[in-house]
Amino acid sequence: MTAEVSVPKTAPAAKQTRKRILTGDRPTGRLHVGNYVGTLANRVKLQDEYETFLLVADHHMLTTKLDGLSEIEQNIRDDVIDNLAVGVDPEKVTYILQSLVPQIPELHLYFSMLVSVPRVQRIPTLKDQLRDHGLAQPTYGLLGYPVLQAADILIVKGNLVPVGRDQESHIELTREIARRFNELFAPVFPVPEALIPDMGLLPGIDGREKMGKSLDNAIYLGDDSKTVEKKIRSMYTDPNRVRADTPGRVEGNPVFVYHDTFNPDKAEVDDLKSRYREGKVGDAEVKRLLLVAMEKFLAPIRERRAELETKPKLVGEILAAGSERARREATATLREVRQAMHLDYFGR
Ligand code: TRP
Repeated sequence: MTAEVSVPKTAPAAKQTRKRILTGDRPTGRLHVGNYVGTLANRVKLQDEYETFLLVADHHMLTTKLDGLSEIEQNIRDDVIDNLAVGVDPEKVTYILQSLVPQIPELHLYFSMLVSVPRVQRIPTLKDQLRDHGLAQPTYGLLGYPVLQAADILIVKGNLVPVGRDQESHIELTREIARRFNELFAPVFPVPEALIPDMGLLPGIDGREKMGKSLDNAIYLGDDSKTVEKKIRSMYTDPNRVRADTPGRVEGNPVFVYHDTFNPDKAEVDDLKSRYREGKVGDAEVKRLLLVAMEKFLAPIRERRAELETKPKLVGEILAAGSERARREATATLREVRQAMHLDYFGR
């Protein structure tokens, strides 16, 4: 960690006028079109309306990934580049690298005293993590994952937290911690709200309900056109349709879910759907037109990605600048926290 606070301790934090968003990614690598639909598109939309912080949660990776820490740096790069490439604008959004803000672990420590062990043991994501990583018991650190997340959010006094449905229980805990702190000490924190997209998940190319890196069924934002073509060709459609002249099912058919999501030509999509239902169009044609639409969407992202990759220092610079800004906010919050807790002795 290189986090020497570079601003005088007395510098005031920027005055907060708009509602604040804090959102976060665990840096697990390249992002896919499911991530785009689920979170990235929302970030781009919200960045004009709210003061937004985007936190890359590298400390959270320590909870499950001790055997692969050497990959984290590249994963952080890929995560930031994908966010930049889709238009999450560093002029509008403060990019934070969690480990560059040492005030977060300090707040995490205080918060960890406000939460009982059975409370965090009940959080449903814990069970998923244990299963996904083949663990019999959580470490002390993994158990604290959602408490650390609460510190991420509350260190900048986030009001709104756009996340997927799977994260709802973490925001609920964050709300409890904020209330508990405010009650016990002083009203320092807002009680943040989760912003959960109401649209369904984008299915994987294999027809499974969810697109996921570990499921090996994703189209990545950085995939080249050959790869995208191959993936779309192999895409799962209506398994009961043996020939092009058999009437097909449109509802829940991933090829049409993708058309609805990525093809801006609604007339073309409607026409394909009615012909598909009547058995008057082949899968190959539906997929060919999907490829055209996906390429229109992906080509500019791919181009920006390639351009960003020619600037090897850029990601580090954006994270350094954003994290510095976050440290200023975090220093101000922690000062209030220590005061409220009577921990401001010796000028802390
Ligand atoms: N736990 C989140 C996820 O897995 C990532 C995350 C870390 C986060 N800190 C956050 C999300 C703070 C929102 C706010 O997706």
